[in-house]
Amino acid sequence: MHARTAALAGAGGALGVALWWRYNPSACPYSQRFWVELPHPVITRERLLEVLAPAAGERILEVGPGTGYYSLDVAARLEPGGRLDVFDLQKEMLDHTLRRAGERGLTNVEATQGDARDLPYPDDSFDGGFLVTVLGEIPDQEAALRELARVVKPGGRVVTGEIAFDPHFVSLGSLESRAAAVGMRLERTSGGRLAYFARLEA
Ligand SMILES: C[S@@+](CC[C@H](N)C(=O)[O-])C[C@H]1O[C@@H](n2cnc3c(N)ncnc32)[C@H](O)[C@@H]1O
Repeated sequence: MHARTAALAGAGGALGVALWWRYNPSACPYSQRFWVELPHPVITRERLLEVLAPAAGERILEVGPGTGYYSLDVAARLEPGGRLDVFDLQKEMLDHTLRRAGERGLTNVEATQGDARDLPYPDDSFDGGFLVTVLGEIPDQEAALRELARVVKPGGRVVTGEIAFDPHFVSLGSLESRAAAVGMRLERTSGGRLAYFARLEA
């Protein structure tokens, strides 16, 4: 009986925390990085590479790399001559990603700290951009999409990835309307409604 009460209290507590996260967009703290290091089902690295199609020589921006789950494979595809810029609110996340890039012998990853709602890059700086399980953590999603549209060259692509077990999950319908509000068009998706990559045209 006591065990059942404790289990119910635990489940209630977990639900409460998930609901709090859902309605209070904020960055996943570095101390909780365990979550972003778990395998990402459906929104796999291979699927991202297929949808983003990074090519040698390109300059690509990743917003919210976390500990670099996707960064290293994308950076490798940009060689020779290309560069991956990683941009995150938290310096610890950037340091972690750079450390992993160094361990893999990648020298084409550049890190900048800041808030995605105000990107410190000139217009049309990038061939493309991507952000995976990041948009819902940003208090003003339209501002972040508008900034991505500004720094990516006209006709370039921005890929977003989402998975439903993330408390900050952004549904495809909601993404599509936010993207339309800043003049971006949904080109294609890969995956399903509960876990998907969406490719937007900037
Ligand atoms: C859930 S993690 C995702 C990490 C990685 N993309 C992945 O899928 O494994 C979200 C990341 O976005 C970053 N982030 C959240 N809000 C941000 C903001 N406003 N500007 C820049 N980065 C932000 C967090 O610091 C964190 O590194």
